[in-house]
Amino acid sequence: MGILKKPGGALGAGPKWVGRWCATCLVVLAGCGGGTATTGVEPPPLPGDGDGSTVPAPTDLPLFIAASAPSKLSAWRHLLSDGQALRLSPNVVPYSLNTPLFSDYAHKFRTLWLPAGQQIHYTASGPLLFPVGAVVTKTFFYPRATAQDPGLLGAAKTEPMDAGEVVDLVANRLIETRLMVREPSGRWGAVTYVWDADQQDATLVRSGQNIGIELVDAGGARTPFTYAVPTEAQCVTCHATNVSTGTFEAIGPQAHNMNRSYAYAAGSFNQLEHLATLQLLAGYTTPPAPMVVWNDTAAPLSQRARAYLDVNCASCHNSAGRSGHTGLWLGLGVSDPRHLGVCKPPVGGQQNGRFSFDVNPGNADASFLYYRLGNYRINSEPPRVAMPELGRHVFHTEGNALVRDWINAMAPGCP
Ligand code: HEC
Ligand code: HEC
Repeated sequence: MGILKKPGGALGAGPKWVGRWCATCLVVLAGCGGGTATTGVEPPPLPGDGDGSTVPAPTDLPLFIAASAPSKLSAWRHLLSDGQALRLSPNVVPYSLNTPLFSDYAHKFRTLWLPAGQQIHYTASGPLLFPVGAVVTKTFFYPRATAQDPGLLGAAKTEPMDAGEVVDLVANRLIETRLMVREPSGRWGAVTYVWDADQQDATLVRSGQNIGIELVDAGGARTPFTYAVPTEAQCVTCHATNVSTGTFEAIGPQAHNMNRSYAYAAGSFNQLEHLATLQLLAGYTTPPAPMVVWNDTAAPLSQRARAYLDVNCASCHNSAGRSGHTGLWLGLGVSDPRHLGVCKPPVGGQQNGRFSFDVNPGNADASFLYYRLGNYRINSEPPRVAMPELGRHVFHTEGNALVRDWINAMAPGCP
C-alpha cells in the first residue's frame, strides 16, 4: 500500500501519529486536563503499526479520539463523497440490523471498521466486543422529494431499506453521520457530523442542530417537522445503557440482531459469517436465532412487538437503565409480564391519573405505554410525554400499530 503524504502536504508539519492515532490530538487533550471519556495517555502502538512518523496507508485509516475529533468527517476517511455518491474506503464493512431504531423515517447506512490485525470478539448475547481503534458509523439520509415549503428539505416517507455499499446522492440526501470510536482508554467516544449542502463532506456538530424537513408520503401527504441532531449529552442518554457506570455502549451490533444477510457488492452473505470470513470476528460459533424483523408479518405478533420495544426502548428501559426506576423493562430477555408493563400502574409521567396500567391487556387505548407512543408535545400536553424522549418528532404509524395490535391481542383482565 505504501506511505502517503502527510495531511496538509508539507513534510514535518501537521499532526504527528502514534501508530494510527493522531498523537498531537492526544497531547492537546492532555494539556486541556483530559476529556470526559479518555485519559489523554498515548496508546501503545497497535500490532502492525509503523514507526510513528507516517500517515497510515488507506487500509490503515487514521484514528482520533472524540474529544479532539477533526472538524470534517472526510478526515476519518471511512465514508467518501464526491457529491454524487457516498462510498466506503476499503475494509470498511457495511451492516444492517434485523430490527433497527426508528428515527423519524430516516434511512440509515451503518458501517464498522477495525485497525489491521484487530478482531471483534464474538459474544452470543449483549453487544459484540470491539477492540481499541474500532470505528462504527451510522449515516442518516432520506430519499429526495420536492418540498412545498422552500425553507425545508424534501424527504420521501418510506420504510428504510439496506443501502448496499453505495448511497446514490442523486436520489438521496445525506443528513447526519454519527460515529463511535473505541478509544485507547477502552471507552467509546462518540461524535456526529452534519452533511454540508453540497453533500461532499460533513461538519462536526457538538451541541445539536435543528434541520427543517418535510416528509412526503406516497399519497402526497406532507409532514413538516424539525429534525433534531442530538447534542453529545443526548447521545449518552440513550447509549449509557447502565446509568450507574454511565459508559457509552454500542447497542445495535449484537449477534441476534446482526444475524441476517446483507447485499454486499460481492454478493449477499450472512453478516456474521462474512465478518468471520474476513477474519474480523474471533471466537465465532453458531449464532443465536435471528432477532425477529419488526415488520415481517410472517413472524409471530408478540415477537415482532418485543423486538421493536427492545431496540427502541430498552436502552433506557432496562433494570440498570435511565428509566429502570419505573419498573418498565422492555428488553427481549424480560419475561415477567409486570415488568413489561402488563397490569403495572405507571410511576412516572404526567398523565398517570388517566391510565391505571402501562399495558392494559386487550385494551391499547387504555394503556399508558401505547398512549406515550402517539403523543408528542401536542400544545396542551406537557413536554416529554412521547417515548422515546429523544429522536422522535414524527409518529411511527406502523410501529405504533404493531404495539397496539400486540396489546389488543392479549387476554383481557388484570387481577
Ligand atoms: C433515542 C436514543 C438514541 C440517541 C439520542 C442516540 N442514539 Fe445512537 N443508537 C441508538 C440505538 C437504539 C442504536 C442501535 C440501533 C440502530 O442502529 O438502529 C444506535 C446506534 C448508533 C450507532 C451505531 C453503533 C451502535 O451503537 O449500534 C452509532 C455510531 C451511534 N448510535 C452514535 C450516536 C451518536 C454519536 C449520538 C449523538 C449524536 C447518538 N447515537 C444518539 C439510540 C440512540
Ligand atoms: C432515552 C431514554 C428513553 C427511551 C429510549 C425510552 N424511554 Fe420511556 N421513559 C424514559 C424515562 C426517563 C421515563 C420516566 C419519566 C417519564 O415518565 O417521563 C420513561 C417512562 C416511560 C413510561 C412510563 C412508565 C411508568 O411505569 O411510569 C412509559 C410507558 C414509557 N416510558 C414507554 C416507552 C416506550 C414504549 C419506549 C420505546 C418506544 C420508551 N419509553 C423509550 C426514558 C426513555
